[in-house]
Amino acid sequence: MSGIISITDLSVVFPRPDGDIVAVDGVSVTVRPEERTAIIGETGSGKSILAAAILGLLPRGARVSGSVRYRGEELLTAGAHRLREIRRRHIALIPQSPIESLTPTMPVRRQLSEALDRRRGMDSVRAMDAVHAALAAVGFPRPQGSTHRYACRLSGGLAQRAVVAGATVRRPHWIIADEPTKGLDTLHRAQACRTLASAHRDTGAGLLLITHDLAVARAQSDRVLVMYGGVLIEDAPTHRFFTAPAHPYSRGLLASLPERGMVPIPGNPPAGGDREPGCRFAPRCSLVRPDCRPAYPPINQAGPSHGVRCVLYGGARK
Ligand SMILES: Nc1ncnc2c1ncn2[C@@H]1O[C@H](COP(=O)(O)OP(=O)(O)OP(=O)(O)O)[C@@H](O)[C@H]1O
Ligand SMILES: [Mg+2]
Repeated sequence: MSGIISITDLSVVFPRPDGDIVAVDGVSVTVRPEERTAIIGETGSGKSILAAAILGLLPRGARVSGSVRYRGEELLTAGAHRLREIRRRHIALIPQSPIESLTPTMPVRRQLSEALDRRRGMDSVRAMDAVHAALAAVGFPRPQGSTHRYACRLSGGLAQRAVVAGATVRRPHWIIADEPTKGLDTLHRAQACRTLASAHRDTGAGLLLITHDLAVARAQSDRVLVMYGGVLIEDAPTHRFFTAPAHPYSRGLLASLPERGMVPIPGNPPAGGDREPGCRFAPRCSLVRPDCRPAYPPINQAGPSHGVRCVLYGGARK
């Protein structure tokens, strides 16, 4: 089907003499452009590395296995030229460190207008108009008068908004947004979210939204994926996730929200190199049972379109 990204048994390992770091561990999931999908999970759970693997942007030394197919095309074995084309024309990334994705010494609006897809037949004046409109939509102050605004002069928040504008103005088929609201105040967070929402609504762009902000995930997605220690542990319709989370980790995550009592999850997230057999959440889980180890629990059904890797659902299979 057009536009689908199909990920199968994707793993990313950083080999280390003192034990490999498994950043992404056997993730299988299919995402569709019509369904805005949020990926949540604690720091270090593998969200950014998953996004980088999809787009061929893994750090040097990473070992990747499995499959990522976009419109049927395998991306893991695609050449550098093809991957650049995919990133330019098909799947735009809003990176977690936006300032690093901008050229420091070029005016921001020129960077964005030059990146506009020439296939859209835009001359430079129309391209610049589109960039001004996109920058204004994310609350960029006086976009027309900002020739002097070199990327190196931008605050983190302005760079963040410029990159959101830059991704949406190209009208990609997909936007992978890695913490697109990080560091933004309430007003600008809302503007960035509206821009992404309208890219989805008005141009049909698929949205894969990586976020720590559960309020943003709730408002901006139709489906939630939860990562823990590199493993995809829950996959649920957003409404269901926030009303009936299944995995004990997900329940803990919601219970730690201020409006739900701010009860912290005891213990710490797993460090990259420590690989105890079985469910990686088991050491922190109050509901742990013998069958949580040694095999990782399978994906069980917790409801319609609701999968969870936990033995509490669907019996205690190995
Ligand atoms: N270049 C690297 N070399 C070795 N390990 C790495 C490298 N980059 C990431 N990792 C490890 O991979 C794991 C996943 O990292 P990732 O950046 O995907 O986490 P994340 O879920 O995006 O976290 P955050 O919410 O803080 O952005 C972590 O254990 C991290 O330490
Ligand atoms: Mg990250």
